[in-house]
Amino acid sequence: MFTLTLKPSSLASFSYQPGQHIPIQIEINGRVYQRTFSISSAWRQWKKSSTIEISIKRAPQGLVTNWIPNNLKKGHIVRIGEAQGSFVLSPKQRRQTNAFVACGSGLTPILSILESLSDAQLSSQHLLYSVSHEPEAPFKNRLQTLANKGLNLLILESSSQGRIKNDTLEAWLSEIQIESAYACGPSGLSQHIHDLFIERSQRLGHATPKFFTESFGFANASASSDVTLSFKDANGRLIMSKQKNGTLLENAEKTGLNPVYGCRAGICHQCIAQKKSGRVRNLKTNQISDAGKEDIQLCICVAETDLELTINERTVQ
Ligand code: FES
Repeated sequence: MFTLTLKPSSLASFSYQPGQHIPIQIEINGRVYQRTFSISSAWRQWKKSSTIEISIKRAPQGLVTNWIPNNLKKGHIVRIGEAQGSFVLSPKQRRQTNAFVACGSGLTPILSILESLSDAQLSSQHLLYSVSHEPEAPFKNRLQTLANKGLNLLILESSSQGRIKNDTLEAWLSEIQIESAYACGPSGLSQHIHDLFIERSQRLGHATPKFFTESFGFANASASSDVTLSFKDANGRLIMSKQKNGTLLENAEKTGLNPVYGCRAGICHQCIAQKKSGRVRNLKTNQISDAGKEDIQLCICVAETDLELTINERTVQ
């Protein structure tokens, strides 16, 4: 995990809520790439030094996630956008009994949220952090500080203990009633945690907790190569190609188009395109759309049938 410290140049116009993410534009070999990262630093850091941190996990094939640690140096200027996202606590939720489940780098927005709470509020918060190998878990010192202040922390080693189960929840929560549950991690985690909390509330006779999720990555982005994608750009130019593995966003980029995008994870809605005809599968929900006109998110959809789309292209190059 690589942590980057940023100081917004226009302090009057920048603000964020713990749990939100920001888009960052990076120029690599003359081309501008935009990626979205959660703010991982504590709120008091922003108040004290007007800086924020983002923590980046290198993806094996990730152009930007590898370029940033290798190339960005102190003093570099990057373009960032407004903080976005609804994975935040309202003033009322800050005083409630909440459960947080994080997997891998999904900890970053949750860490920012928890470090914004008072010690009194922290003592009603519960965090289950699932990592591959416990000795290498990032942010252990910060988590230990939170635990010393009252956070109920359980670090689960997924390589030896497997998937989170009912008895894991009870070993962690000891039948405490949870008002809101938050999950952040790969796609698939959210539904699993949601189902566990529904089952738990029924078993214990508790009210069903409110549920909030943030997810990244998709379990299955394989796509049929038997379908033809017809992309129309803003000038009406038509580009046709056979679908390859990957999302519609990746397919559009492979044709040389330059679609607008932000998070590439189904969160920011910047990659909206206008579907004229054809069916798509949403990789987050696994639902298949109708065949008619509608707006779709390119970064989380693959085509199930031949598709006609109008793409919104970015103007920067
Ligand atoms: S790029 Fe953010 S939802 Fe698609």
